[in-house]
Amino acid sequence: DKAGHRHFMSKEIAEQPTVISEAIANYVSEEARSIRLPGEGIDFRALNRLTMVACGTAYYACVTAKYWFEQLAGMPVEVDIASEFRYRQPPVTEGTAALFVSQSGETADTLAALRYCAGKADRILSVVNVAESSIARESDLALPIHAGAEIGVASTKAFTCQLTVLLLLALKAAHARGRLDDDALAERLLTLRGLPAALNQAMSIESSVETVAQRIANANDVLFLGRGMMFPLALEGALKLKEISYIHAEAYASGELKHGPIALIDEKMPVVVMAPSDALFDKTVSNMQEVMARDGKIILITDQAGAAAAGDGVWQTILMPDVNPMLAPILYAVPAQMLAYHAAVARGTDVDQPRNLAKSVTVE
Ligand code: F6R
Repeated sequence: DKAGHRHFMSKEIAEQPTVISEAIANYVSEEARSIRLPGEGIDFRALNRLTMVACGTAYYACVTAKYWFEQLAGMPVEVDIASEFRYRQPPVTEGTAALFVSQSGETADTLAALRYCAGKADRILSVVNVAESSIARESDLALPIHAGAEIGVASTKAFTCQLTVLLLLALKAAHARGRLDDDALAERLLTLRGLPAALNQAMSIESSVETVAQRIANANDVLFLGRGMMFPLALEGALKLKEISYIHAEAYASGELKHGPIALIDEKMPVVVMAPSDALFDKTVSNMQEVMARDGKIILITDQAGAAAAGDGVWQTILMPDVNPMLAPILYAVPAQMLAYHAAVARGTDVDQPRNLAKSVTVE
């Protein structure tokens, strides 16, 4: 049932405020002062390293979460693609928690990576949507994301729910490791509770994203750039676009631009810059100037202050509501998803069943 939407993907994008609010309610106590984990939970004081492994969009959720675990909890984190991790046979040292993220819970490479860590890691954790899945069953602790069934092959609400649960886990770790005291944790949780409302507000950008999507629908290639936590979001935006619209898209950390990809820039190249006005925004502005100086077409996804600071020369701006920097990656997933969706609709592709792709990749 598409609930009045033309595609499951559009329904699932629209559901995000609701499912994320449910995910938060499942982990955050009524008075919003603590985070409850199922079963025995996790003692983050006993751990000195976190290894996160996944595929595709779930992998980008892990890359995003690395920033949270490092910045909030001061925890060393490794992130890896499951198909690489499983064959590289990396050492798993004492005090390591291995965390596997998977919507389906059945992805062959992720499951094999989990089995490789079993008996080596102190704890096997998973963040899954399907609670009865193999990955959930074989974990010491499985954390459900409560996204509900995701039908569209391109992952949308599962991604933002994965991010939400990973952020809660990073906050839990920060508290356990003495980086946040009770009041500081409560303050962060209060901020997090504002996320569904911010997502609701972000839904109103849809018509402006649709206009931009129609303008890039005939492009052969699109470049996505982002810094900090917006870098994994740029990766996710590029993956989404190529999966469903079949437009070739690539993502780079903004700072990598001059180390190669700038050679691609010309008047035909749309460059999507994902950049809330944060501490790194000035650096992003200079990257944009380098693109504009070569006639590249900038699509800037930012807030009011970012749009003002970016100055003239930006081709298209998608204006986002202001958001706490900790929550920005979750909010900025929305325009990335909508851009891919509307580009695909404009090109007339099969949005919910893109060619060559399966919802659950149970063979390697
Ligand atoms: C992208 C997408 C895939 C999956 C990947 C992992 O939109 O859906 O990249 O994220 O195949 O799948 P799960 O999360 O089921 O392990």
